[in-house]
Amino acid sequence: MWSNIPLFPEQASTIAGQIDGLFAFLVGVSLFFGGLICAVLVYCALRYRRRSEDERPLPIHGNLRLELLWTGVPLALAMVMFFWGANLYIANARPPANALEILAVGKQWMWKFQHPAGAREINELHVPLGHPVKITLASEDVIHSVYIPAFRVKMDAVPGRYTTVWFEATKTGTFHLFCAEYCGTSHAAMIGRVVVMTPSEYERWLSGGAAQESPVAAGERLFEQLGCPTCHRMDGTGRGPTLAGLFGQTQRLQTGETVVVDEAYVRESILLPNAKVATGYTPAMPTFQGQISEDGLFQIIAYIRSLSSDKRR
Ligand code: CUA
Repeated sequence: MWSNIPLFPEQASTIAGQIDGLFAFLVGVSLFFGGLICAVLVYCALRYRRRSEDERPLPIHGNLRLELLWTGVPLALAMVMFFWGANLYIANARPPANALEILAVGKQWMWKFQHPAGAREINELHVPLGHPVKITLASEDVIHSVYIPAFRVKMDAVPGRYTTVWFEATKTGTFHLFCAEYCGTSHAAMIGRVVVMTPSEYERWLSGGAAQESPVAAGERLFEQLGCPTCHRMDGTGRGPTLAGLFGQTQRLQTGETVVVDEAYVRESILLPNAKVATGYTPAMPTFQGQISEDGLFQIIAYIRSLSSDKRR
């Protein structure tokens, strides 16, 4: 639809057309009413101008029909915009369950990606065509923002927390990848590309690189190295809770509150172990703040998740 208009980047994801549709509607409504108001303004200025010094207009006491009209029409338009936008937002915020999970770390000034099978790349992301891809984002320093105009997706990478973005590519080819949040001197150089390949090409690309340790295997190694199994024993007899089968469960805390064991909770428990202590345990765990990189956290979380049947979350 927009391919002949150089203002718009190519549409290369399932959601791109829908985003552009909403955008066109918003621009259309704004242009229509902007034009209408200008036209009425000019018309009234000419039609009802003061023609003599002692001309006095008739006082106006209101017009119910007009009042209803100019309340009702904007309300209806605003509701259409709201529900249309909210619908798209929700669709865009919920990655499908079968999405390919890519881990991404932004740092000054590059993007690091890791595929579930272990392959790593920098400033370049290879993805299969026609398959949903979910990117979990972390930042090692300041706020960055991953932006792929052709897919109409953009998401901040915020230090200290995880954010996610997903898309499904509908065209093979190479697309721009930008950092869209000013992050320091070389922000403008923090660019890269997304290469969309057919699924078989993607498989070939994956197997073509040097064999790399998967995040789960790397996480297990790190888990051992840091001495975690001393307390978090598999059989549950350790000083800390066993992590087998824990991921995806609802955990009761000392305070009586509950928390779902997800990426964010595991991350917090590694860095700030005393923030949310599981019921029945003492806050005995030391913090690992500053000892594990964002990559390492991703890997340990991948490992802990692999201990649970709930592989997806
Ligand atoms: Cu990273 Cu701008």
